[in-house]
Amino acid sequence: MEQLLKDQIAIVTGGSQGIGKAIALKFAQHGAKVVIVAQSEERGTKAVEDISAQVPNAHVIFRSTDVSNTEQVAATFDKLIEEFGGVDILVNNAGITRDQLLMRMSEDDWNTVLNVNAKACFNTSKAVVRGMMKRRQGRIINITSVVGLTGNAGQGNYAASKAAIVGFTKSLAKELGPRNVSVNCIAPGFIQTDMTSKMPDAWKELQLKNIPMGRPGQPEEIANGALFLASGLGAYVTGQTLVIDGGMVM
Ligand SMILES: NC(=O)c1ccc[n+]([C@@H]2O[C@H](COP(=O)([O-])OP(=O)(O)OC[C@H]3O[C@@H](n4cnc5c(N)ncnc54)[C@H](OP(=O)(O)O)[C@@H]3O)[C@@H](O)[C@H]2O)c1
Repeated sequence: MEQLLKDQIAIVTGGSQGIGKAIALKFAQHGAKVVIVAQSEERGTKAVEDISAQVPNAHVIFRSTDVSNTEQVAATFDKLIEEFGGVDILVNNAGITRDQLLMRMSEDDWNTVLNVNAKACFNTSKAVVRGMMKRRQGRIINITSVVGLTGNAGQGNYAASKAAIVGFTKSLAKELGPRNVSVNCIAPGFIQTDMTSKMPDAWKELQLKNIPMGRPGQPEEIANGALFLASGLGAYVTGQTLVIDGGMVM
């Protein structure tokens, strides 16, 4: 198999499970040196073990960091940049939900979701762009959601955070395009992960009714899109949102 990311340095936030773990695995299979950034040491270590077991000679490490914490991100990323000499690919995938109708949504529900999902993209991008601009090479991939495009009752905070990511992505794409750094989003639909397994059965049935392809997506199907955007295959794509949702939103 041709390795599309040979020796590239990739950081995947939220890479310890679900979609992020599938992206970390895919990138490792394509020869990238992968850094998984998430909070739980236990899940992070397990992800490194799992990927190393599946990919011979994989170079995967884990760094525990809260991506919503500006100081923590700066400290972790500065050390990584010193260790590896730069970052080629950044995937902002870490995300959470705290669903609630607005009438019941607390200020903390709003702030926490906006900080983990959207502010984190500011924290991590700020830490890597200087090096990417200097080397005139870099890929930033932000994982938004179809909910950021359509809105969803009970997810005002989550939808706002994901829509913010789309606006941020387009702005950064305009800033960094002249330096050969691309910035894109992927908007997954209903993907089978821990995040969606917590949703009620009625919600899952409703989602399936709205998916022309009639099934939920798999994390690997998002990872395939990330590989396209991170590799030479997607070299002339920037500022876009790649929707991977079985036709749910069109
Ligand atoms: N699953 C879907 O159907 C779907 C659809 C559309 C969009 N998405 C988006 O895709 C992304 C991944 O979703 P998923 O379903 O794979 O979620 P998941 O299984 O819940 O995994 C979330 C990941 O984010 C990490 N994370 C959470 N808070 C963090 C923080 N403050 N700092 C660092 N890492 C943090 C988690 O690790 P720790 O808890 O250890 O920190 C975990 O690795 C999210 O941005 C989500 O919004 C998912």
